[in-house]
Amino acid sequence: MKVLLAGGAGYIGSILIPKLLERGYDVSVIDLFWFGNHLPKEATIIEKDIFDLHESDIRGFETVIFLGGLSNDPMAEFSPAKNFIYNASAPAFLGYIAKRAGAKRFIYAGSCSVYGYTVNELYDETSPAVSNYPYGISKLQGEQAVIQMADSSFSVIALRQGTVSGYSPRMRLDLVINTMFRAAVADGSITINNPAIWRPILAIQDAASAYIRAIEANEEISGIFNVASGNYTVGEIGDRVKSSVQNLLNRDVRLNIKHIQDYRNYKVSVEKARKVLSFHPQQDIETIVADLAEHLDLFRDFENPLYYNIKVFQEIEKKERREV
Ligand SMILES: NC(=O)c1ccc[n+]([C@@H]2O[C@H](COP(=O)([O-])OP(=O)(O)OC[C@H]3O[C@@H](n4cnc5c(N)ncnc54)[C@H](O)[C@@H]3O)[C@@H](O)[C@H]2O)c1
Repeated sequence: MKVLLAGGAGYIGSILIPKLLERGYDVSVIDLFWFGNHLPKEATIIEKDIFDLHESDIRGFETVIFLGGLSNDPMAEFSPAKNFIYNASAPAFLGYIAKRAGAKRFIYAGSCSVYGYTVNELYDETSPAVSNYPYGISKLQGEQAVIQMADSSFSVIALRQGTVSGYSPRMRLDLVINTMFRAAVADGSITINNPAIWRPILAIQDAASAYIRAIEANEEISGIFNVASGNYTVGEIGDRVKSSVQNLLNRDVRLNIKHIQDYRNYKVSVEKARKVLSFHPQQDIETIVADLAEHLDLFRDFENPLYYNIKVFQEIEKKERREV
């Protein structure tokens, strides 16, 4: 089966694609390669902006996956206009041409950040999705645009992912567990901005399983699915990262607790994904930290700007401004 991943050279795609190749899929990637190319050579590579794709480029692909856009709050806040274009319009455009080109399924990399600041309740896919920050609003817009394209011959699956964590060949150190791990190893101290805040965490290995379950789901299935490995408070994440780093790397770690107001606070139910997609997460904080510790030598150059999306993005924006 031919699968096209737009934004497939990023953090999630770089773990997912080797698994797809192993399962026998014919994989193509279209990407701007903001963070380089860490993909296996068996994947077909097209260096292009999603907006430069034509229907003819997509003909023959059965499944199209959107993994592109500005993938965190700092990028979205640095350039809100570009955020809305890349996170809301790009998936809408890609879904539109994928459907016209005859693709059977579209998978959208959604985010639990659409839930915003919630009360102390488990949110499912029918709960209100209300946020007032650019990333959350744009991820909901992108999701709504593609989900309404679903019909009997075009399946659309939106995966509302928790914060993804763990090692990827395209490494990110700006995601909660990865950030804490870096701080524990580099500084011997983890700063917790607000220990009471809830966050669903999605181990990158579980994220890859969620995409595989979505690709291989019965063709009649469409819809929105929360996907996470577990819900934790940021305080609990800090405690467990600290203990794991101490145990695995024999490093003393202190916690620096602050009480800064956050605009995101949510915990989610993944029951629908379990029942409908047969998504069964296997990982927890300890296995994520073990995965990071095992690969530590591959990203020990912690100051590398490529590990921090905002640093790369600011450089791209500066360069574009100079060229105008
Ligand atoms: N990582 C997470 O914790 C997380 C959580 C929830 C949702 N998501 C969503 O999952 C997706 C992938 O996340 P990631 O962490 O792999 O992101 P990433 O930032 O590592 O990768 C994004 C990739 O998309 C490419 N890209 C961006 N805009 C493009 C465009 N217009 N045309 C072609 N290529 C483009 C970039 O070059 C990059 O390779 C994003 O849509 C993100 O919003 C991620």
